[in-house]
Amino acid sequence: MTSQTLRDARHYEETSAKKIKSEERPAFHLSPYVGWMNDPNGFSWYKGQYHLFYQYHPYKTHWDSMHWGHAVSKNLLHWEYLPTALAPDQEYDSFGCFSGSAIELPDGKQLLMYTAVDQVKKYDGSTQDIQTQAIAIGDGIDYVKYEKNPVLSAKDLPEGCSKADFRDPKIWKGKDGLYYCVIGNRPADGSGQILLYSSENGFDWKFVSILAKNENRYGKMWECPDFFELDGKHVLLTSPQDMLPEGLEYHNGNGTLCIIGELDEDTHTLKEQYHQAIDYGIDFYAPQTVLAPDGRRIMIGWMQNWDTCNHRSENSKWFAQMSLPRELSVKNGRLYQKPVKELDDMRENKVEYQNVALEDDTISLEKLEGRKIDMELVIRPQDEKNRYKKFAVRFAQNEQFYTALSFRPHESILKIDRKFSGSRRAYIHQRRCLVNGNSDELKLRIILDKFSVEVFINDGEQVMSATIFTDQDATGVSFFADGKVNMDVVKYDLI
Ligand code: FRU
Repeated sequence: MTSQTLRDARHYEETSAKKIKSEERPAFHLSPYVGWMNDPNGFSWYKGQYHLFYQYHPYKTHWDSMHWGHAVSKNLLHWEYLPTALAPDQEYDSFGCFSGSAIELPDGKQLLMYTAVDQVKKYDGSTQDIQTQAIAIGDGIDYVKYEKNPVLSAKDLPEGCSKADFRDPKIWKGKDGLYYCVIGNRPADGSGQILLYSSENGFDWKFVSILAKNENRYGKMWECPDFFELDGKHVLLTSPQDMLPEGLEYHNGNGTLCIIGELDEDTHTLKEQYHQAIDYGIDFYAPQTVLAPDGRRIMIGWMQNWDTCNHRSENSKWFAQMSLPRELSVKNGRLYQKPVKELDDMRENKVEYQNVALEDDTISLEKLEGRKIDMELVIRPQDEKNRYKKFAVRFAQNEQFYTALSFRPHESILKIDRKFSGSRRAYIHQRRCLVNGNSDELKLRIILDKFSVEVFINDGEQVMSATIFTDQDATGVSFFADGKVNMDVVKYDLI
């Protein structure tokens, strides 16, 4: 039996999403069916296709009572909308169905595990969240909430742990046949930690360990954890709130953190070895991964950030989008990301230039333009002993607008700047990334969709993502050098 709240959402989205023309949406990034979207949820492979759910408020383009939107895709790039999967229609989730994940059960049903949020009034009149974990079982379209919800609540928390910040379960099946999940939580020190739980059947859960403790090192509360084995290491992804910048890392306020280490199988704790931001751009948060049937670990993130998402066109009937899905790997203690290989099938109309010599000049190259493009650049000094001062590429450009990436090899800093992208607001427009490795050869893969740019640096060792809302007729690309640069360019249209 579906509830009235769910029927209302399904009816509303079906009638109002029709008013959004496909040209108004990104071409190959998922946007909400209608209204507002934040975190990716329930990223999974089920019944022969990828399922992606998302934090969703259909009625407005602002965050409000959370539903789960739902879309499916065969290639991770072109998505088909399905009806709202979850609505806040129970007492325990009346304030919202927050983030969570999905897994297939042995009987072929799909289990969704999400954070149910209820609110209680305190003596002083203010309210406090009560966050518990709940389950819904379904067939890929309709989901029924489990009658014994919530399955994890305050009684399952170790001493001193907050019941107001206990959210975002990510579930997987271990090699030992047990189900596991990691959940973000706030301990008594006010920062964050990741709790590990296990279950024999996916319904009855018990506390295992505190997998990782923030101890006020990386921001405060750790949201949206994900945990998996990759290339012989264990990887913990999380999105810490209230981060302090360190050098050029963690500048996003609500940032992202990747911890690479080894799992101590006896204590079920992560021995941390390496730390880094997951994305070095402006708009990226709350990523979640899926293990694809062919063994790839694929990550998708919310291509927005809480500090930048309050500025938008009020005329739009949708707001926010997901990042490109990215294949992950670990090399030399670093997390590498590259666009899913399915994107290669969209490449057409190759344009290629080798060894373009640029000297104190701005140039554009014939046929090198577009707003849905995949462009690879290799940038070198013409003379290694006399390095150039600055290289820049501008895109989404016309007489009035552009977004730029500029690189200064002496500092090894790559900067994205969208100040002139058509924004009329003074929110954050620039971000700098300290590029690791050898600055004598910089490799950039720049993917433009209608409202975004994602830059994969040096084969994906670092990534910068940002949204841009520039008029679509700004299709120009130009290159600039202060000094002597030698450059290779390959560009494809993404069709
Ligand atoms: C992260 C987050 C999650 C929460 C959800 C609510 O962006 O704050 O921790 O589950 O958004 O929409």
